[in-house]
Amino acid sequence: SRQLLFLSTSICIQAVPYKSIISGGLHPGRTITIQGTISPNATRFHVNLSFHSGIALHYNPRFSENTVVRNTKLREQWGSEERSGGMPFYRGHPFTLTICCEAHMFRIVVNGNQTHDYKHRHTPLQQIDILEIDGDLSLTSVLL
Ligand code: GAL
Repeated sequence: SRQLLFLSTSICIQAVPYKSIISGGLHPGRTITIQGTISPNATRFHVNLSFHSGIALHYNPRFSENTVVRNTKLREQWGSEERSGGMPFYRGHPFTLTICCEAHMFRIVVNGNQTHDYKHRHTPLQQIDILEIDGDLSLTSVLL
């Protein structure tokens, strides 16, 4: 007989900073969904997808600049920032943020709308195995 095995991890949390191992690392088709609420007086928050020697994706909404900054950090050095596109987050509002890992890029969806693409600067994707969230927000759930 054939068996189908579905694996998922659901974590309900409130604690920020949040840090979790992404077991098995990333691969195309893997998605991460984060639900939370932005603090009323927020300045910034970030979601980092990290690996042993840096941050593959730093996704950093900045309310003071009304921009989402995206970047990569390799051995303590930041690369060039990507800042195009809109600012889909609002102070005091809840959000759902989904990061879809594809073969050539991360696709980022906020409240059901495709907002930003980020071409991979670090491969292999499998090495990217840490999720960190910090800043001016509260977290409702993180689905890995
Ligand atoms: C720096 C900031 C970091 C990070 C980086 C992204 O100016 O201190 O926290 O957001 O920009 O390029």
